[in-house]
Amino acid sequence: MQWTNNERGYGWLSIALHWLALIAIIAMFWSGFAAENAGELGDRAARRALMGFHTAFGASVALILLARVALHFLQRQPTPVPQPPALNFISTATHKLLLLAILIQFISGPLAIWSGGRDINVFDLFAIPTPFAERNEAVHEGAEVAHAIGRWMLLGLIALHVLGALKHAFIDRDGVLRRMLAPAET
Ligand code: HEM
Ligand code: HEM
Repeated sequence: MQWTNNERGYGWLSIALHWLALIAIIAMFWSGFAAENAGELGDRAARRALMGFHTAFGASVALILLARVALHFLQRQPTPVPQPPALNFISTATHKLLLLAILIQFISGPLAIWSGGRDINVFDLFAIPTPFAERNEAVHEGAEVAHAIGRWMLLGLIALHVLGALKHAFIDRDGVLRRMLAPAET
């Protein structure tokens, strides 16, 4: 069983975390945008329920997503497939920026709640207490701006990343998508 990455491909750890993170990020986008819509429609009960899910689910998957970012940097990355250096640069930069955007969301989200003087309630099972003694307006506004930047960064980069993956799968047919589905055979 190939757990870690090698020069020819990704190991199961990277593959599992890559697709788990995709599912978690879809759930975060769905609940975040649905809460925003409910707010715009003036449905406060729905907004509260959706934001409750957004923050509780976010707190529940935080460790998986942080492990995903850390393991990218703790392991070697497979050798890039032969392609022009400019495309290699864009692809590597997109990967690093995607990981940065995940970090921005997972720092700014909790900070937006805590700086508002509130604890993070995790499905009414337990709460992660705020380290702030009282509401801090400057930190709160900064965290909200960072959370908005992170979300648009993620959307743009995911679009670029998926287009790249589709180009490799259907135009180049060079096995790049295959190596994110199963480790290379040894
Ligand atoms: C990949 C991860 C995440 C994504 C894609 C994401 C996405 C979003 C979106 C689309 C909104 C818009 C809702 C609105 O403007 O009303 C939002 C708001 C919010 N999110 Fe997240 N989020 C993520 C992670 C988190 C985490 C981990 C937390 C906290 C545990 C969190 C807490 C919040 C809070 C408090 C708001 C409302 C305040 C604000 O608009 O800044 N988010 N998020
Ligand atoms: C349908 C959606 C997606 C597809 C088809 C896809 C496909 C791929 C493929 C084929 C690779 C291997 C690239 C290579 O070896 O050069 C890869 C790597 C990567 N993907 Fe995705 N991806 C998707 C969604 C995402 C999302 C949502 C994120 C993060 C927000 C992400 C972050 C990364 C990163 C950081 C890498 C570099 C390797 C690693 O650290 O795991 N991907 N992806």
